[in-house]
Amino acid sequence: MAILEIKHVSKFFGGLAANSDVSFSMEEGMIMGLIGPNGAGKTTLFNCITGYYPPSRGDVIFDGRKLNGMEPDKVCKLGMVRTWQKVRPLAKLSVLDNVMVGALCRTGSLKVAREIAHEQLKVVGLDNKSNFLAGGLPIGERKKLEVARVLATQPKMLLLDEVMGGLNPAESEEIIQLILDIKERGGITQMVIEHDMKAIMRISERIVVLNSGEKLAEGTPEEIVNNQAVVEAYLGSEH
Ligand SMILES: Nc1ncnc2c1ncn2[C@@H]1O[C@H](COP(=O)(O)OP(=O)(O)O)[C@@H](O)[C@H]1O
Ligand SMILES: [Mg+2]
Repeated sequence: MAILEIKHVSKFFGGLAANSDVSFSMEEGMIMGLIGPNGAGKTTLFNCITGYYPPSRGDVIFDGRKLNGMEPDKVCKLGMVRTWQKVRPLAKLSVLDNVMVGALCRTGSLKVAREIAHEQLKVVGLDNKSNFLAGGLPIGERKKLEVARVLATQPKMLLLDEVMGGLNPAESEEIIQLILDIKERGGITQMVIEHDMKAIMRISERIVVLNSGEKLAEGTPEEIVNNQAVVEAYLGSEH
C-alpha cells in the first residue's frame, strides 16, 4: 500500500516555481532517495509534504489522508516528521531535553517522554551525552541528535534533509548504518535528500530526481545513473 502519494504538487514563490507538477508515491517501509542540483526544490518539497508550506497546487496524501495545509504538529501526530538541513537544536537545553521535546508529541507524561528519549539516544549512540548542552555538540553528533529527536516522535515516516551534509566519511557511514537499521527494524518509511551519490545508491530502493522544480526522472539507482537526462542535468557536472 502507498503510504505517501504526491499528486501534481506545485509551489510558487512569486513568479518562481520551486516545485512544478511533481508526482510520485512511496510504498510502506521503503527508502526513497530525493536528489538534484542545489535549488532544485528538494527542501521545498519536504516543506510542502510536512506542512511547513501549503502546496500552491496538488495534493499530499499520507496514510490515506489528504494533508494539504495541515499544520506540521498535526502532521507529526499523524506520524510524519522531518529533519532540517540546517540543524537547529535547542542549544541551551540538554541533549536529553531536546529529544524529550520530540517524544512529547506523543505523550503528556515527562516520565514517559524521558524513557522514550533515552531509548532513542541509545539507538543513535548518544546516550552517554544525554546531559551535555545540545549547542556544544560537534556537527556529527548534532545530526545524530536530530535523528533521535524525530525518532522520539514515534513516526511512521521520516524525511531526512541532507542528514550527512558536512560530515566526514566515518560520520556519514554511521548515519548510513543508522538509516539502514531503521529500515531493518521495520515500521518506518524514509525519504532521504542527499548529495553523496555513493550513499544514496546504497540506501535507496528508488530515487526521484528534481531539476528546476520538476521531476526529471524516477527509478531504481541503476536506472537513475544510466539515465541520460539525469547525467546531463546533475551527475555529469558534479560527480
Ligand atoms: N521561502 C522561500 N521564498 C522564496 N524562494 C524560496 C523559498 N524557499 C525556497 N525558495 C527558492 O526555491 C528554490 C528551491 O529551493 P530549495 O527547495 O531550497 O532547493 P534545494 O533544497 O533543492 O537546494 C530556490 O530557487 C530557492 O531560492
Ligand atoms: Mg535543500
